[in-house]
Amino acid sequence: MAKNEDNLKDIVSHAKEYGFIFPSSEIYDGLSATYDYGQMGVELKNNIKEYWWKSMVQLHENIVGIDAAIFMHPDTWKASGHVDAFNDPLIDNKDSKKRYRADVLIEEHIEKIQQKIDKEVKKGEKRFGENFDKEQFLATNPNVLRNKKKIEDIEKRMKETLDAGDLEGVYNLIMDLGIACPVSGSKNWTEVRQFNLMFATELGSVSGESAKIYLRPETAQGIFVNFLNVQKTSRLKVPFGIAQIGKAFRNEIIARQFIFRMREFEQMEMQFFVRPGEEMKWYEHWKEKRIKWHKKLGLGEDLYRFHDHIKLAHYANAACDIEFKFPMGFKELEGIHSRTDFDLKQHEKLSGKKLQYFDSELNKNYTPYVIETSIGLDRMFLAVLSASLKTETLENGTQRTVLSIPPALAPYKVAVMPLTKKDGLPEKAREIMNDLKYAFNCQYDEKDSPGKRYRRQDAIGTPYSVMVDHQTLEDNTVTIRDRDTMQQERIKIENLKEMISKKVSMEEFLK
Ligand code: GAP
Repeated sequence: MAKNEDNLKDIVSHAKEYGFIFPSSEIYDGLSATYDYGQMGVELKNNIKEYWWKSMVQLHENIVGIDAAIFMHPDTWKASGHVDAFNDPLIDNKDSKKRYRADVLIEEHIEKIQQKIDKEVKKGEKRFGENFDKEQFLATNPNVLRNKKKIEDIEKRMKETLDAGDLEGVYNLIMDLGIACPVSGSKNWTEVRQFNLMFATELGSVSGESAKIYLRPETAQGIFVNFLNVQKTSRLKVPFGIAQIGKAFRNEIIARQFIFRMREFEQMEMQFFVRPGEEMKWYEHWKEKRIKWHKKLGLGEDLYRFHDHIKLAHYANAACDIEFKFPMGFKELEGIHSRTDFDLKQHEKLSGKKLQYFDSELNKNYTPYVIETSIGLDRMFLAVLSASLKTETLENGTQRTVLSIPPALAPYKVAVMPLTKKDGLPEKAREIMNDLKYAFNCQYDEKDSPGKRYRRQDAIGTPYSVMVDHQTLEDNTVTIRDRDTMQQERIKIENLKEMISKKVSMEEFLK
């Protein structure tokens, strides 16, 4: 099995063993691509939400939040284009009976060519050492240039065929590239077909076309239909943003890779309304802001990259992804889209209601343009988990599993432990815990040896463990152990809160 698949398997089993993520309705053998967050998972998830919400809403005077309903009037989805155009081009391999997204097969083929270029660069680095000029190498090396040209040609054909809805063209491209099924290795493909990703259900007791409603496939539309409600009641002036965190549903055909691609997931989206013509300036602004937000977590600068969209969604005039290096390779974590005035104009058309803004500085009405930042909460969770899960070999040759989650996101901030279960130590530990628990999510732990307890806290990512021993009873000091360095320090109980807070509080982190 490939190393990356091993890594993902490790993450899945760690997440289950320690109460982060369980397969949904597992006692009935689960439901594919649906997961439940356990007692640890919900804490981490809430902390990620808090990091996003505070950064986007609380720290921006011109951004407010809403919480719209999941069900919306069915015309919403006609207006947004989801009824007609929210499709995936699918292709089946006749031998393995596996189904794939045709565009993903082509993108993975492109990635393989890109990897050849990266390999060539590495060879160059080795050969030329300090004198290596990467830019010049990329612009002149014949192998690199040949592969770059290949990528450009494929991307051009892919864009043309997908934009034109030319499914036969997409099929021909797959055949011409000689793409084989990763499972059967054969090139025995069916034709390419379109498949709509929205889940439909019926309103009330009457069935039929008129009662058909959808589970929202994105949270964005709840923001667009409330654009004027929010603008008028908040008196915000363009440019301003509306943010939302909430569930979205997509009938993903190829739902694999754990919580990366689910049928029920959560999005954290922000729509930023700007003057027409200023959208590219704001698009660049949000690209920079969002990548900074990610990198601030300290998971590793080299784990992120931008990827410009080849095929633009029906609403966008520019779009890119922030990709993260998941165990399966670089994949989309967040999308940043310049959505033009498409959505507001479409809702105006279908609802017959004006959705315009009066700009008092310009003394005119217009439909604002929109820059969207859209991140999958579950993917962010997987990013944090996969970058944090480590197995370390210690000086004495033993191994420890540690989740080095950024402290502000950690489910528990501190574990409070009595050295033994007697001599009044549990009572003293409880006293400390009762004081700390109003400030931090704490866990009381008195079972097993201290070493085992430390390992358990490492495995769930608790940044600090406080040990209450006999000396504590004499001088009101405890030892505090740092998850990452494993160093222990003796400090006064009265200084505990301040010391822990410096490292774990969201407030300190955001500052
Ligand atoms: N409103 C724009 C929009 O929904 P998207 O690129 O389709 O754009 C935005 O989705 C983000 O939602 C993605 O970057 C990804 O993080 C997350 N996402 C999309 N589909 C998902 C799925 N099936 N499972 C988990 N997360 C998903």
